[in-house]
Amino acid sequence: MTEMIPPPVGPYVLPPLKFGYADLVPVIDEATMRLHHGMHHRAYVDGVNAALSSHPEWLGLTIEEVLRRLAELPDDIRQTVREQGGGHANHQFFWKILTPKRTEGPTGDLLAAIEKDFGSYETFKELFVEAGAKHFGSGWAFLVAHPQENYRLEILTLPNQDSVLELDHPSPGLIACDLWEHAYYLKYNNRRADWLRAWWDIVNWPYVSERLAGIRAGKKQL
Ligand SMILES: [Fe+2]
Repeated sequence: MTEMIPPPVGPYVLPPLKFGYADLVPVIDEATMRLHHGMHHRAYVDGVNAALSSHPEWLGLTIEEVLRRLAELPDDIRQTVREQGGGHANHQFFWKILTPKRTEGPTGDLLAAIEKDFGSYETFKELFVEAGAKHFGSGWAFLVAHPQENYRLEILTLPNQDSVLELDHPSPGLIACDLWEHAYYLKYNNRRADWLRAWWDIVNWPYVSERLAGIRAGKKQL
């Protein structure tokens, strides 16, 4: 196992946000952001650090790489790392694609890919909202690209803190939207579809375009 250890990057830390807790108002209220980033995400970071502390050789890998290799983890920590490490990775991904600066929506190659696979941006948004609203219980809604199918885009939802990184044939994520009630309940109560319809205003589409370009260039770590 020791041969796979690059310079240490763990124990993992709560990544700072590039914006303030109040900066995503009115889409996400300040109290939700404070709890979501400062408490919920922090708990996942603490949880995966605690689990991996008994197998420190794994702490040399990024959380994304650990999740890709979930099947190789020792039995006694695999499920905990799936849950806590998945929570850390999913939230880290989620914060990256949010911005307080309203963008004009997807453009260029990204818009072309969305139109090819969904017909239009408007249709894509409707399908994404529908998929997320119908998902039973907690989880995440993703837009992924399938490198093995000419980068075909697909909307999918996963339960709990499962990550697209764990799929048998990993298809990198372009966007991820948190379907857990802690992401929206203070403002939207039980109206998850309203949260999903509102969140487009804070998606950082230029960054999503960078992710698509990175995926097409074969980058594993986005
Ligand atoms: Fe969350």
